[in-house]
Amino acid sequence: METNRGEWSSKFGFILAAAGSAIGLGNIWRFPYVVGQNGGAAFVLLYLFFVIIIGLPYMFAEMALGRSTQRNPVGAIEALKPRSPWKLAGYLGLLTAFGILSFYGVIAGWTFGYIFKMLSGKTGGFAGFISDPLLVTFLFALFLAITALIVHGGVARGIERWSKILMPMLFVILLGLVIYAVTLKGAAAGLTFYLKPDLTKITGSTMLAALGQAFFSLSLGMGLMITYGSYVSKKMNMVTSGFSIALFDTVIAIMAGLVIFPALFAMGKSPSAGPTLVFVVLPELFSMMPGGLVVGAFFFLLLSIAALTSTISLLEVPVAYLADERKISRKTTVWAVAFVTFLVGLPSALSQGASGFFTDFGLLPERLASADFLSHVSFLFGDLSLALGAFLISVFVGWVWGARLAADEIQSGSPGFARFRKIWIFMIRFFIPAVIFVILLNLFGIFG
Ligand code: PFF
Repeated sequence: METNRGEWSSKFGFILAAAGSAIGLGNIWRFPYVVGQNGGAAFVLLYLFFVIIIGLPYMFAEMALGRSTQRNPVGAIEALKPRSPWKLAGYLGLLTAFGILSFYGVIAGWTFGYIFKMLSGKTGGFAGFISDPLLVTFLFALFLAITALIVHGGVARGIERWSKILMPMLFVILLGLVIYAVTLKGAAAGLTFYLKPDLTKITGSTMLAALGQAFFSLSLGMGLMITYGSYVSKKMNMVTSGFSIALFDTVIAIMAGLVIFPALFAMGKSPSAGPTLVFVVLPELFSMMPGGLVVGAFFFLLLSIAALTSTISLLEVPVAYLADERKISRKTTVWAVAFVTFLVGLPSALSQGASGFFTDFGLLPERLASADFLSHVSFLFGDLSLALGAFLISVFVGWVWGARLAADEIQSGSPGFARFRKIWIFMIRFFIPAVIFVILLNLFGIFG
């Protein structure tokens, strides 16, 4: 191991940091709204299917790449296949991390602002809140600055410590909300929408949305698990770690749906509201509960922290690259990347009513993304580019690096993997790239 790169202090530390990256706004903000936009339960099924059959085996490939090479996404590919165009897959990952952070930071800023909004007792007025240009810009900048400050502190000291503290609390408060929401009058219709699949709702764009959401939620497809895997020791069991990460992540997302949909239907609102869904439904839910404003403030605090462990990981990917490969000091890199992200994210921040141009951007067809700029960036980086990245990385691992070498790497520290080795090799070489490929083709209307 290179001396100045750092390593997780324990297996538990790694799981917490990786789960901290995975669990975030993707579970509580994005998952319910994409479920709502894509017709409910059928989408949930598809999502679960992709998590188990594609996300998890693919996650091992990224971790193996990282641990074997001890490098960031670009460096890892370069180390195994020097001076080849495969490096572009690594660069795509960096670009994607950057693109995701640019809109994710905006939503994280709203979340942070909502702590204080709850405390002030004003639960309504979301549309006014997100269309206030100064406020959203300030919150976005603040959130990026907090992220940069922590990443600045280095791998174990900064990231690990933060992940350890508050995730269990998020789980507990979410559990309380689930119980409250499902017992509301009128909740049953929401449960039906969320849990009773209508398979006719599945279309080509729903498939990509489900696949994209699976990658997004597990932090896959852009080299994050390569980067975090590079700080993992050879003795660690990557298979059980991967399982725990996927399990925590999925449970939190499913629970978020169990809060949102019953509440939503009980309030008589539409599930297809898009990115604003959770911010409208939850505060109203809190306003109905006794002591709800305090619970609400605390909830948004925990959600901000969950978002923070994700923005930290998003910033870490380009930073690790610049620090490893370009030998630029971590400190300079952290602040420079955060600043550029801020500039790139401004149109997203202003796209929820503050600027007419970005609000009605409308470059992509409606079936792929809503008209606002933020939804566009979310589709391009949060779905499309993750799927493309995962396609390239799985082909790279399966065929260029070699599935057998990758399987050896996974097996080191996870002897039990021997039993799944053959099937995993098949998955990474054939099944995963083929499924992603077909979904991507389908998106461009190749099958009519
Ligand atoms: N997985 C995070 C979430 O669900 O909120 C978002 C994310 C973080 C995506 C890091 C990708 C990533 F590399």
